[in-house]
Amino acid sequence: ERSAGGRAGWKGLRVLVSAGGTREPIDAVRFVGNRSSGRMGFALADAAARRGAQVTVVAANVGLPAGSGVEVVAVETAAQLQAACDAHFDACDVLLMAAAVADFRPAEAAAHKLKKDDMGDALTITMQRTPDVLTGLAARRRPGQTLVGFAAETGEHAVDYGRRKLTAKGLDAVVVNDVGKPGAGFDVPTNEVTIVTTSGERHVALASKGEIAEAVLDTVDAVRAAAPA
Ligand code: CTP
Ligand code: CA
Repeated sequence: ERSAGGRAGWKGLRVLVSAGGTREPIDAVRFVGNRSSGRMGFALADAAARRGAQVTVVAANVGLPAGSGVEVVAVETAAQLQAACDAHFDACDVLLMAAAVADFRPAEAAAHKLKKDDMGDALTITMQRTPDVLTGLAARRRPGQTLVGFAAETGEHAVDYGRRKLTAKGLDAVVVNDVGKPGAGFDVPTNEVTIVTTSGERHVALASKGEIAEAVLDTVDAVRAAAPA
C-alpha cells in the first residue's frame, strides 16, 4: 500500500496531464517535432486514475493506449495543446505538464507540399517562438491548484536549470530529467529524475516510468498536505 495517497486517495481530485510532443507543420506533409513518446505522461495519467482521480490527458501525437477511465484529448501542434489545456485548466486540481511543447514553429506553413527543386540547395525556415503554455496557466492559477512542470535537461547543471524553471514559471514542483543519462529520457520504458520543490529535492533512481509516476504523485500529496488550507 502506498503512503499518503493510498489506493483511492485521489478520489474526487481532477487531474490534467499533458503528454507527448507537439509537431509544427512546415508544409502539407512535413513537420518539426521532438523525441517525446508520451510514455511518461501516460504513466502519470494511469497512476492518477488508479488512485481514484478523474483524469484528462491532452495527448500530442501519442501512439499509446491510455489506461481505463482516462479521458484523452488528442492534439498535434503547440497551439492546439494550448487551446486544450486552457479549456481544461480551471476545472483541474492538479496539473502535470509532461508534454514536450515546441519552443519554435515555422513562421509560415505552406498549404501545399514544397517541391525540392523549387527550393534550391539549401532551405531556410524562419521559426517563431511559441507561447509558454505552462507559464500562462500558472499566471491564472487559483488557490488549491497544484502545478508540476517537467524539464528535460542535459549535463551537470540539470537540477539547477530545473530549479530556475520552478521559480520562473511559478510552479510547486519540477521533475528534472537528465536526458543525457542512459535509461533516462525519450522512448525508453525507464527514467531517472530529480523532483525539485520549494522545500527541497528528491532523487529517484533509475526505475520504470510507472514507478517514477508514483514518486511524482507522492510529491504532489506532500505539497498539497503542506499547503495552507
Ligand atoms: N512548456 C510549455 N510551453 C512551452 C514550452 C514548455 O508549457 N512553449 C512547459 C513544458 O511542458 C514543461 C516546462 O514548460 O513542463 C519546461 O519545459 P522545458 O522545455 O524544459 O523548458 P523551457 O521553458 O521551454 O526552456 P528550454 O527548453 O529553453 O530549456
Ligand atoms: Ca523547451
